[in-house]
Amino acid sequence: MSDLSAVFKRTSDPEVMRFHDGPLNLEAARDGLERIILNAVRMLPFGIRFVIVKKNNENVGYCYLGPGHRLGSLSRLEDDPIEISYDIVRDSWNSGYATEAACRLIQHGFEDLALPEIFGFVHPRNIASFRVLQKLGFVKREKAEWPNQGLVDLCSITREKYESWRKANPAHESTT
Ligand SMILES: CC(C)(COP(=O)(O)OP(=O)(O)OC[C@H]1O[C@@H](n2cnc3c(N)ncnc32)[C@H](O)[C@@H]1OP(=O)(O)O)[C@@H](O)C(=O)NCCC(=O)NCCS
Repeated sequence: MSDLSAVFKRTSDPEVMRFHDGPLNLEAARDGLERIILNAVRMLPFGIRFVIVKKNNENVGYCYLGPGHRLGSLSRLEDDPIEISYDIVRDSWNSGYATEAACRLIQHGFEDLALPEIFGFVHPRNIASFRVLQKLGFVKREKAEWPNQGLVDLCSITREKYESWRKANPAHESTT
């Protein structure tokens, strides 16, 4: 399956896009993929990574680490919070893929980029998304206003908390 087919399969699914701005048509999915490719180098060391399953090379989703409030904009302000986010295609839910991918990017954020804290924004009804953050040591901090979603839970983990989480959760074998 091409990257575009994989992206369209995911972004055209109303269930996957429930907490975003709704499903995309093929043209919008193609535009989004082109933006990712064109901006990939400029976004470094942040950016979107596709989640690829090792055993069959399937593109099952993405995980993003980067400026949250200015998602889509490429110029980072010093005080922009750095956010983690992820989407996985529906027929691969609950296989641990989002947790594993987010774990790797969080490790990159703390160990390579020396970030002080990483944030996650979760709609209160998005149980699976909160569970991913919870498994990775995030805690709810406060409510925050989010475009088109109203109040969401702002979650985060500090580098100090990450270091103790990491000791308590040694790395496991990677499937993605
Ligand atoms: C959120 C999402 C990315 C999670 O991906 P995933 O690969 O299925 O996540 P994981 O398998 O790593 O972990 C999911 C956890 O949520 C749990 N979970 C899922 N649905 C649940 C529910 N309704 N009630 C309780 N727990 C639930 C799973 O059991 C699992 O926890 P466990 O390992 O303790 O059993 C996926 O559901 C998705 O793409 N949703 C739509 C898009 C979205 O909401 N993205 C997040 C926006 S930030």
